[in-house]
This record gives sequence, C-alpha cells and structure tokens, in this order.
Amino acid sequence: MNVQTKTWVSIGPLTEIPRQGARCVKNGDMSIAVFRTSHDQIFALEDKCPHKNGPLSQGIVHDGCVTCPLHNWVISLETGAAQGADVGQTTTFEIKIEDGNVLLAL
Ligand code: FES
Repeated sequence: MNVQTKTWVSIGPLTEIPRQGARCVKNGDMSIAVFRTSHDQIFALEDKCPHKNGPLSQGIVHDGCVTCPLHNWVISLETGAAQGADVGQTTTFEIKIEDGNVLLAL
C-alpha cells in the first residue's frame, strides 16, 4: 500500500508576504513560491514556469494568476496551468492560513 502523508509546515505570518507578491520557501532542492493576492488569498506553486523554468515568484500577480517575468506566460495560481493558447502546468501545493500564520503542505 502506498500511503502519502502530508505535513503542514508553518512558513511564518501572512503579513511577511507582500500583497500581489510572493515569498520563496525551500524544500530540499525545490523552491516553492508562495503568492498573496490583493484580497489576501494565498497560493503555492513550484517556482518554475512550465515554459522554460522562469522564476514565477518574480512575476506579476493579477486576477488569480501570475505572469512569468521571462516571456509573459500567464499561470493560474489555483491550478498551476498555463492560460490562453499556452500549454503546460506547474506543480501546486496545498496551503492555508491559521491564526495569521501560513501553513504549507509538504
Ligand atoms: S519561462 Fe516563463 S514564460 Fe518563458
């Protein structure tokens, strides 16, 4: 039987993530971008654009998406999927806020 257990890891207060911006969290060799929208929703995606691995954490957050800083692909924060005519998907992670702290499922 293959049971995957997830662990909720605290990555600090929501207020440490800029609105319409992101913070990076390391998990081994992987970098995870934690985004905060203008309405204080949070999302976590691998910090790697599905096009050519651009750093999504440095992109512009808007309308539930982030625009990659390298070639302007638009990636859904909720699903990690490229929008429009572009095809590709970035890994997403479960994330939640408890008592003002952000918890990431790893
Ligand atoms: S690497 Fe993100 S759009 Fe090209």
